[in-house]
Amino acid sequence: MGRTSKDKRDVYYRLAKENGWRARSAFKLLQLDEEFQLFQGVTRAVDLCAAPGSWSQVLSQKIGGQGSGHVVAVDLQAMAPLPGVLQIQGDITQLSTAKEIIQHFEGSPADLVVCDGAPDVTGLHDVDEYMQAQLLLAALNIATHVLKPGGCFVAKIFRGRDVTLLYSQLRVFFSSVLCAKPRSSRNSSIEAFAVCQGYDPPEGFMPDLTKPLLDHSYDPDFNQLDGPTRVIVPFVTCGDLSSYDSDRSYPLDLEDGSEYKYTPPTQPPISPPYQEACTLKKKGQLAKEPRSLRWL
Ligand SMILES: C[S@@+](CC[C@H](N)C(=O)[O-])C[C@H]1O[C@@H](n2cnc3c(N)ncnc32)[C@H](O)[C@@H]1O
Repeated sequence: MGRTSKDKRDVYYRLAKENGWRARSAFKLLQLDEEFQLFQGVTRAVDLCAAPGSWSQVLSQKIGGQGSGHVVAVDLQAMAPLPGVLQIQGDITQLSTAKEIIQHFEGSPADLVVCDGAPDVTGLHDVDEYMQAQLLLAALNIATHVLKPGGCFVAKIFRGRDVTLLYSQLRVFFSSVLCAKPRSSRNSSIEAFAVCQGYDPPEGFMPDLTKPLLDHSYDPDFNQLDGPTRVIVPFVTCGDLSSYDSDRSYPLDLEDGSEYKYTPPTQPPISPPYQEACTLKKKGQLAKEPRSLRWL
């Protein structure tokens, strides 16, 4: 693929580079904010699953007076430093990482917790949905320790078969739960964002990191919840209709007549998991899939 073909095929990828964002995901958070005013009055925020860091860039620029807010960013991967962002490298499903995050908010809770976490997708839909749900629940577990009453939680969600169960869990803790699809998120993707506002845990609820909210009791039959336990949340699309459509290809010279100039990525990944495979491929040492396994 040529250097420019991805710019043509993915307008948000191109705009991210031109606007200095580390990833196209920045537009998802910006469009969610346009719809829900997520950053209003926010001075302290947590960005879970943050690498390469475009959501942290947005948060550090938008919260607090003139970007004076306090942002804690967490990811499995190393992330290049960002001014005003405290970084923790760790797995959000691990107790040790959760404890490290929580200690930064003791005595001064967060107004906003966001999680754009995505597992390495396997292509086996049930497995991918399960892993995504576990990430969301790990994030929710952390949120119950750090969020102030009335605070907001935004997390990537896969609109799969068992999503109703997740909505039910979220509705236990928040007065409002919506499912939002920003225009910069492709229609072809089952990704959406749960926007949960008004943190209001049930009376007597004691956050407990050692008891995950769901984990081993995850049972597909829960999706058959009916009566008052079945939660159907509103679905909202966000991002102005005049903004670019992420499922379309655009010419390199965008409408305003300005001439296209290639922009390199704002922050190349530090040590991506695929790095070893790329090095082996360059040397012609990458093992080839056995013919017989190809269609498994
Ligand atoms: C779509 S990317 C996040 C993009 C980010 N919001 C941005 O704007 O740059 C998903 C991230 O989730 C992280 N991730 C997946 N599982 C994780 C886990 N268990 N703990 C921490 N991070 C995790 C991955 O390392 C990856 O960087």
